Amino acid sequence: MARCSELLAICLCILLMLSWCEALSSNVDDGYGHEDGSFESDSLLKLNKNDDVLTLISSDDNTTSASSTVSVSDFGAKGDGKTDDTQAFKKAWKKACSTNGVSKFLVPKGKTYLLKSTRFRGPCKSLRNFQILGTLSASTKRSDYKNDKNHWLILEDVNNLSIDGGSTGIIEGNGKIWWQNSCKIDKSKPCTKAPTALTLYNLKKLNVKNLRVKNAQQIQISIEKCNNVKVKNVAITAPDDSPNTDGIHITNTQNIQISNSEIGTGDDCISIEDGSQNVQINDLTCGPGHGISIGSLGDDNSKAYVSGINVDGAKLSSTDNGVRIKTYQGGSGTAKNIQFQNIRMENVKNPIIIDQNYCDKEKCEQQESAVQVSNVVYRNISGTSATDVAITFNCSEKYPCKGIVLENVNIKGGTASCKNANVQDQGTVSPRCSSNYFLM
Ligand SMILES: *[C@@H]1O[C@H](CO)[C@@H](O)[C@H](O)[C@H]1NC(C)=O
Ligand SMILES: *[C@@H]1O[C@H](CO)[C@@H](O)[C@H](O)[C@H]1NC(C)=O
Ligand SMILES: *[C@@H]1O[C@H](CO)[C@@H](O)[C@H](O)[C@H]1NC(C)=O
Ligand SMILES: *[C@@H]1O[C@H](CO)[C@@H](O)[C@H](O)[C@H]1NC(C)=O
Repeated sequence: MARCSELLAICLCILLMLSWCEALSSNVDDGYGHEDGSFESDSLLKLNKNDDVLTLISSDDNTTSASSTVSVSDFGAKGDGKTDDTQAFKKAWKKACSTNGVSKFLVPKGKTYLLKSTRFRGPCKSLRNFQILGTLSASTKRSDYKNDKNHWLILEDVNNLSIDGGSTGIIEGNGKIWWQNSCKIDKSKPCTKAPTALTLYNLKKLNVKNLRVKNAQQIQISIEKCNNVKVKNVAITAPDDSPNTDGIHITNTQNIQISNSEIGTGDDCISIEDGSQNVQINDLTCGPGHGISIGSLGDDNSKAYVSGINVDGAKLSSTDNGVRIKTYQGGSGTAKNIQFQNIRMENVKNPIIIDQNYCDKEKCEQQESAVQVSNVVYRNISGTSATDVAITFNCSEKYPCKGIVLENVNIKGGTASCKNANVQDQGTVSPRCSSNYFLM
């Protein structure tokens, strides 16, 4: 009996040390900064090795509750692309989230799991990794979303989580049926909501990497009310005419970095909305799509606050907009301290645009108040405009845009149209706003 508990103590010690090592190694690649675009198969291998050891120890011992991985296949998920695997996923999640010692929720490689609208809710005991190596495929039946018309997959209230696609994982929204029924495509249809493919809600210290998201019903990835987020090596695609399929939508989120990612879709590649602060975007490839957008802000006379946005290193091809700030009339609040730099644009319709008269409704009322736009720097931006107007500053009369800096901007093929904007040129700038910034 005494020997047994001694053994148990030793095993627990080893377990603790291993998980501590794992935490250390994942912390190492946690530092914000530039890394190259290769997928991290090395660290993936390391992780797997550790897990094997963990599994071995716990099965020898048979006193800890289970191995450190919970796979959906252990809970009856078929992965044949036809059988509804929602219940199996729910059961597996419950186990993975509520059991001490389980660090990984696994979706195995090489299979396709059909899922209805599904919620993965925390807080969890010890879960650290949501590993999607196979394909999650969305049900195309409207009735499968009757409990929640706005979401397909939601992950919420889990801290310290890594969502890792291991470079094989795919989230497939099968959105065609929703696009066809969108009022933006078929004007005879009423405007209804369509689900967001992946919603990440209230997650602190989140890592998303090596994942592919395709053909979302509407928004592809929505990051809401999160803090301390890193998104890396993510590929997002949908046809250029798929309505409202924003690539990554960020709202009420602070301290987020998106890097080494490729987005081609039917709406904004990245949209940054109210309540977002300290957003860093590096090495983004965007197109087709509507470009990188801050806003729309101030809809329905609302207050909006966005600050500390830095887009550094991006390539946009054949997009509707390059870098855009859009606000509705009648709103209030601020959009400030924004930098767009080291950006290349090819054949972009509105390469640089601030629109404080934005309206995507049938009619927007003429209103005086506006979200104040200030301290926006455009630095080292080059490329070609697909329209006659390469730079548009259409700002509010009562709340003109302040502190706009164009530094080494060279966009060929279009002029600048600047209204109610205080613009300063530095270095070489072409095209330039006329000298009468405050006239028209
Ligand atoms: C090991 O644990 C499993 C699950 O808890 C149990 O079914 C099994 O009987 C145990 N084996 C031994 C040898 O105790
Ligand atoms: C994340 O994990 C670390 C170490 O396990 C812990 O100290 C920290 O409080 C966790 N953070 C959150 C936001 O839960
Ligand atoms: C300007 O931006 C391009 C990317 O468009 C980058 O390759 C280049 O290094 C940048 N130049 C400077 C001086 O930072
Ligand atoms: C500014 O926006 C208003 C409202 O959309 C539009 O009527 C006007 O033509 C725009 N002006 C410029 C210079 O783009």
